[in-house]
Amino acid sequence: MSDGSHSPFRRKIFTKDTIVEGKLKKSLGAFDLTMLGVGAVVGSGIFILPGEIASVVSGPAIVISFIIAGIACCLAALCYSEFASKLPIAGSAYTYSYYVFGEIFAWIIGWALLLEYGLAVAAVASGWSSYMQSLLAGFHVEIPKLIAGSYNPATGTYFDLLAFVVVIVIGVLLSLGIRESTRVNNIMVIVKLAVVVLFIVVGAFYVKPDNWQPFMPFGFKGIITGASMVFFAYIGFDAVSTASEEVKNPQKNMPIGIISSLFICTLLYILLSAVLTGIIHYDLLKDVSAPVAFALQAINQNWFAGLLSLGAIVGMTTVILVMSYGGTRLIYAMGRDGLLPKTFAKVNSNNTPVVNTLIFATVMGIIAGLVPLTKLAELINIGTLFAFAMVSLGIFFLRNNKHIPDTGFKTPFYPVVPALSLLLCVYLIINLSGITLIAFAIWFVVGLIVYFSFGVWHSKLRDEKRI
Ligand code: ALA
Repeated sequence: MSDGSHSPFRRKIFTKDTIVEGKLKKSLGAFDLTMLGVGAVVGSGIFILPGEIASVVSGPAIVISFIIAGIACCLAALCYSEFASKLPIAGSAYTYSYYVFGEIFAWIIGWALLLEYGLAVAAVASGWSSYMQSLLAGFHVEIPKLIAGSYNPATGTYFDLLAFVVVIVIGVLLSLGIRESTRVNNIMVIVKLAVVVLFIVVGAFYVKPDNWQPFMPFGFKGIITGASMVFFAYIGFDAVSTASEEVKNPQKNMPIGIISSLFICTLLYILLSAVLTGIIHYDLLKDVSAPVAFALQAINQNWFAGLLSLGAIVGMTTVILVMSYGGTRLIYAMGRDGLLPKTFAKVNSNNTPVVNTLIFATVMGIIAGLVPLTKLAELINIGTLFAFAMVSLGIFFLRNNKHIPDTGFKTPFYPVVPALSLLLCVYLIINLSGITLIAFAIWFVVGLIVYFSFGVWHSKLRDEKRI
């Protein structure tokens, strides 16, 4: 049901049938959700970014950057949890906005989330490929140069075949069904957590506090810029909320899954970045693409450096898996609402959106093959921060929406927490580079063109009864 069938501001209206109408199978519990969250979060962000950011942006104070980004995410996670608990419907922030703001805002947020999930898959796949190639090189296996890197004729590379292949293989796995995928995911998440914890424990014995001096070589500005960059490492916990329709008892399990996965990751990141900059002086991390493994080599733990690379590959695999999952469920929700072609909302006999999943994997695989990680990371951050800001703002509208029952999880310290979350996200957005802001504005305009040429005409709400 809607509140105005021909306006782009039409909203969905929550009724008692809203939650039961979903077709996806309910098979996930709190543990699976926490594993999905950690699966989506711990990946290239922590295994690749800290070296460059510590050496040229924040110094050892990268720990503070991680704390600030972690606080922003924790505040946003509380807001996400309230929405996910009250509106357990596929589509995450896109769907929430449909109920509280109206269709055009939902579309804009869905469009920003496509940037987040889609590009995160592509970006992490390109990091995956670099780690995999260095591991293969250890076994004297060389990938022909032509297909060993993203499109860059100057260096003789045209397509990153491994990045493409990993996205396609994961797409095929996902098309077998979420239950099967979470089983694989849970095992891989435990492996990567073990590797990170082992690094922190072993590394702690080699920390030299002198390496933390000077602590803030680039001042407060460096810390904040660092926070908006390391934010990438936290992206993913929100993908948990796209699983709403496949969760048993979502009112209780969604908040547990979102908050506990983020809590685990925040703690690990703070400890890992402190140990990393304590083992090795930040100056020495410049241009190091695998800083964590590099630090281990510096303390002569070569065997462990190899193990860590393997853990990083496993870690990135789960990020690709969960982000692909989030992307396909988002497109599913948009197709079901008629804002994207209906094909995206078709499910097979196993209740899995197979066509959607395979199209998503092919497109993202091609982008992963052509564009490198560094070009994509900031753009992903802005898409995500924008969605977080809207979810935080949405809490004010949610609390005042008379159709949505006031049950389930509640963001504590309302209105302080959603207000702080909103402000912090906006603050991090304005600290991203100008070129990122421009690229996002272009993406935004393209989204509006697509909406006014397709979605507004095909939206399911056009034919629905008004109230
Ligand atoms: N947070 C995810 C990663 O760091 C995107 O790989």
